[in-house]
Amino acid sequence: MDKLNIFSSKDELFKSYTDLLVDQLKNKNQVNLCLSGGSTPKALFSYWAENHKKDIPWSKVRLFWGDERCVPPEHEESNFGMTKKYLLDEIDIPQENVFRILGENDPVEEAYRYGVILDDVLPLVNGLPSFDIMMLGLGDDGHTASIFPHQIHLWESEGNCVVATHPISGQKRVSLTGRIINNSQIITFLVTGAGKATMVKFNITPASEEKKLFPAALVKPAHGSLGWFLDSDAAELII
Ligand code: 6PG
Repeated sequence: MDKLNIFSSKDELFKSYTDLLVDQLKNKNQVNLCLSGGSTPKALFSYWAENHKKDIPWSKVRLFWGDERCVPPEHEESNFGMTKKYLLDEIDIPQENVFRILGENDPVEEAYRYGVILDDVLPLVNGLPSFDIMMLGLGDDGHTASIFPHQIHLWESEGNCVVATHPISGQKRVSLTGRIINNSQIITFLVTGAGKATMVKFNITPASEEKKLFPAALVKPAHGSLGWFLDSDAAELII
């Protein structure tokens, strides 16, 4: 059963999410955390930079990305660039712990390269790379990572990563596939704001037809757990 965590404020949500990371760090020498892009994680990264520069052993955290826009790291739309600005530049984390998707590379080549890295550096579970914590966002259209509804078939791709395309801008993205996302130990959705309430409702307990529409509805842990971290606005249609 998915775990629903609903918070009265973003700060309460971020505190709880931080507790999840700290809890994992207590029991492990290293935590492989896969980050999401977007505005919600940006606020979490600022929270960590402001409140947890020192007390989180960042040298024990290895950072990966669930998706990246195919732009250079200094581009304003780069997920890595956003993470660097709001988190990496503010904390003491070894460079070798940061595994960015090279958005400046050829998308097809980068999807392959990053997929090989995941196979090489992550523990394998059922023969597939497995993250300790998978951070996911939920798009207004039901996308997650960079698997969009118009390309929902990419979720089932055989590889570790695929090249996706943004439905409106046509921007190329490198994204993890469903089999990697679902192979994580702790899968989490981080969703805030009333604008996401409908999509939260559709994706928390999706009817069968909704599963066909929304990639986020296909998130189903192969062996781990799934937790929703919602503020009360995003949860307003399910409480
Ligand atoms: C990205 C993200 C994407 C994001 C959702 C929600 O690269 O944009 O990985 O999947 O999580 O679009 O974004 P917000 O947090 O900005 O609503």
